[in-house]
Amino acid sequence: MSIAVCPGSFDPITLGHLDIVRRARRMFDVVVVGVARNASKNALLTPAERVELARTALAEDPATADVQVAEVPGLLVDFCRQVRAVAVVKGLRGGADFDSELPMALMNRHLTGGSTGIETVFVPGDPGYAHVASSLVKDVARFGGPIDDLVPPGVADAVHAALAR
Ligand code: PNS
Repeated sequence: MSIAVCPGSFDPITLGHLDIVRRARRMFDVVVVGVARNASKNALLTPAERVELARTALAEDPATADVQVAEVPGLLVDFCRQVRAVAVVKGLRGGADFDSELPMALMNRHLTGGSTGIETVFVPGDPGYAHVASSLVKDVARFGGPIDDLVPPGVADAVHAALAR
């Protein structure tokens, strides 16, 4: 049984994320979405909120209904070992994503001992979502713009509530 982890901040989960998880699920028997902490970002939503929003969104689509969602409490590679993942799946919207993802993939490879470790699989994102980034979604929402067509149902309300706190 092949197990993959789709990691990310998911602050919040977007339609672009859902596309990548759906496609990861076609490649692997089991997919676990890992809601992790990116030390270079200040999260708007709490980890519990991000987990819950991802869980709800994935449960609504039959193609991802069996995908599990969990918080990654520390290093991604430790989480991957814990769930016995053979791969980390990440989406790439373009070259900028590759530039930021490659060092992380190489660091994870280093931490898992090189060739015997967990492989990172890059999936080219759907071009229709190339502009959809959680950071931009929050920015649009912060200044009163519409985000309902960029995120799964319920997420826009959660973002607006978090912005109002
Ligand atoms: O959605 P993001 O912010 O691009 O995802 C990056 C994330 C959260 C997957 C990455 O920062 C991560 O793996 N964080 C967990 C802690 C860790 O393992 N850090 C070392 C990564 S090389």
